[in-house]
Amino acid sequence: MPNAGDEWQVAGKRKGAARKSKSLHLSTTSACCQEQVDIGKTIKRIRDTVSELKCEEFWQKWKDQLLVTGSVSLSEPPKNEGTEDLPVQQETGRLYQQMECVCYGLGTFSSCVSARYQLAMLLLLLDAGQIPLKDCSIYDPAFSSGERDVLRELGLTVLTENEEGKRLTTKPTLFYLMHCGKALYNNLLWKNWSSQCLPLMIIIGNSFSGMWSRTIEREFKQDYSYISQAVCVCEERQLPCPPRLIDVFSDTALITFPTNRINTLPQSTWAEPPEPQYQHCPDLEIILRETQS
Ligand SMILES: C[S@@+](CC[C@H](N)C(=O)[O-])C[C@H]1O[C@@H](n2cnc3c(N)ncnc32)[C@H](O)[C@@H]1O
Repeated sequence: MPNAGDEWQVAGKRKGAARKSKSLHLSTTSACCQEQVDIGKTIKRIRDTVSELKCEEFWQKWKDQLLVTGSVSLSEPPKNEGTEDLPVQQETGRLYQQMECVCYGLGTFSSCVSARYQLAMLLLLLDAGQIPLKDCSIYDPAFSSGERDVLRELGLTVLTENEEGKRLTTKPTLFYLMHCGKALYNNLLWKNWSSQCLPLMIIIGNSFSGMWSRTIEREFKQDYSYISQAVCVCEERQLPCPPRLIDVFSDTALITFPTNRINTLPQSTWAEPPEPQYQHCPDLEIILRETQS
């Protein structure tokens, strides 16, 4: 990782950070501190990170996994007429043209190296899946206004509303939620809790079985009931990561919901699923929408 040592610090505290240039943006972070984002420099850093990741062996494995999974899971059902003999890559390219992407919880990528690597990975995934940049919606309440500008400059669609992860899937969608809190995943599953919506989703994020093994069973079932039910019917493929990038890409899986597995859940599962409340969760890792008084 180039210059990792000094880049782990918050950008605003780095030597020379006070220097002003025309492209510097003054933005307010959620922590209410002023942080300057040099748009040009930040984009260059992101592009350099993309180039770095592109040469990594593990990236190739992520890409292959996404393309194979995408072509298998999103082509069923029904199988597209006349696509039977196409090579996977060609067929996948066609499927992904109709696909969109939603990214939540990326983090403050202008100051956090992990988040920057995750953003670079997102750009590579979009490119591999031929998902147009504008069809990728991105949101994190922690983004500064400068970071939102950087994302717009890259061509992504920056959401202005906190959806709390409650986004209804109406077409094949790649959800990219790296190291996010369980409530965000649970909300996403709740909103899509039907045998029609779940198979449209591909999630790249924390392994559900990893969450299950790390959480007290009673708590998991009670507070994160949608993840706890999904863990039995989803298909998880662990995505590799080299030891030096363990903080960035650890515990990441590609998660899908094959129709044949979904159909093993009892019909009663789908009837009026209650909206998650989290009233008694001690360490809720989600920033909720501001309620109007
Ligand atoms: C543990 S951090 C992970 C940050 C980064 N992905 C990483 O691995 O370093 C969780 C992130 O989720 C974001 N988050 C919390 N509530 C959210 C919400 N309602 N919608 C989107 N992102 C949210 C936080 O601001 C934070 O950046």
